[in-house]
Amino acid sequence: MAKVTIIGAGQTGATTAHWLAQREFADVVLIDIVEGMPQGKALDLSEAMPVIGSDAKVLGTNDYADTAGSDIVVITAGLPRKPGMSRDDLLAANSKIVRNSVEKSLDVSPDTIFIILTNPLDPMAYLAMKVSGLPRERVVGQAGILDSARMRTFVAMELGVSVQNIDCYVLGGHGDDMVPLTRHSNVAGVPLNKMLSADKLGAIVERTRKGGGEIVGLLKTGSAFYAPSAALAQMVEAILLDRHLILPTSAYLEGEYGHEGIFFGVPVQLGRIGLEKIIEYDLNAEEQSELDRSANHVREVIESLGIE
Ligand code: NAI
Ligand code: 2OP
Repeated sequence: MAKVTIIGAGQTGATTAHWLAQREFADVVLIDIVEGMPQGKALDLSEAMPVIGSDAKVLGTNDYADTAGSDIVVITAGLPRKPGMSRDDLLAANSKIVRNSVEKSLDVSPDTIFIILTNPLDPMAYLAMKVSGLPRERVVGQAGILDSARMRTFVAMELGVSVQNIDCYVLGGHGDDMVPLTRHSNVAGVPLNKMLSADKLGAIVERTRKGGGEIVGLLKTGSAFYAPSAALAQMVEAILLDRHLILPTSAYLEGEYGHEGIFFGVPVQLGRIGLEKIIEYDLNAEEQSELDRSANHVREVIESLGIE
């Protein structure tokens, strides 16, 4: 069985372990700095396996030795937002945590692929790549599946159509200036602007951009975790099962979409090597300019990290 380590056994980490153990294609190690908590959650999850009929093993630990030989390391360790905070407000605290998580896990899993979730997402994925010294194939970030899924949910609610018929593509940085591509998004092949009035579509775009904040405002302590962890599990599956699945993913750009040297949300084909290729859509001038604005914002935050 493949081995997946999840660093950070909080809301997103533990829920990702739940989705993964249920699907039974990997044994899962949950690691956290809090003593007892990852062990307790892992034991509880293990005790659910007989009920759901999965032989996946779930181990909780505070010791990186237990993570050795992981095929994939998912980093969720770090602080989540509180109401009124932006994702960028988490930069200083989470940089230290992500750096430490990458160094310690790479020591014992030198062949691993990293999937980053910790916010601010695109800068944290950049940091992970630089600290690890790995090629871009082996470091990707999760944001776009979540942002696109939020948009799909809102379209389904509006139209009363199955979510399975709705394809939405949200690109750009994981912030309020993300770029929902309404021209490329569709309901069973029919473009969204033929299904929804401009006003309704505009409202869905706005709600998608602020989707993370909407959940933070409701929860008051912590941020979204069911949908983010479902997205992580989908990325893990695409990689471990060599699916060649194209998913909106934060990836290191080398000229794609007119940008380089930043992590940014773009469609990425994921397989057993990690990032196989980046797909480039034809964009009109307005879409490109929205992406440029988002990319410039991500670049500013990355530059404030002070690492090359
Ligand atoms: P949480 O607070 O529930 O869990 C975080 C866990 O990290 C805690 O258990 C904490 O003890 C642990 N931790 C802290 N420092 C650590 C270290 N050095 N090593 C190992 N574990 C450590 O937070 P939650 O909700 O799981 O969110 C985690 C991060 O993911 C946050 O930064 C949040 O903003 C981000 N996030 C990103 C999303 C995305 O789409 N990119 C979506 C949802 C959350
Ligand atoms: C979200 O969008 C917290 O970034 C996370 O829900």
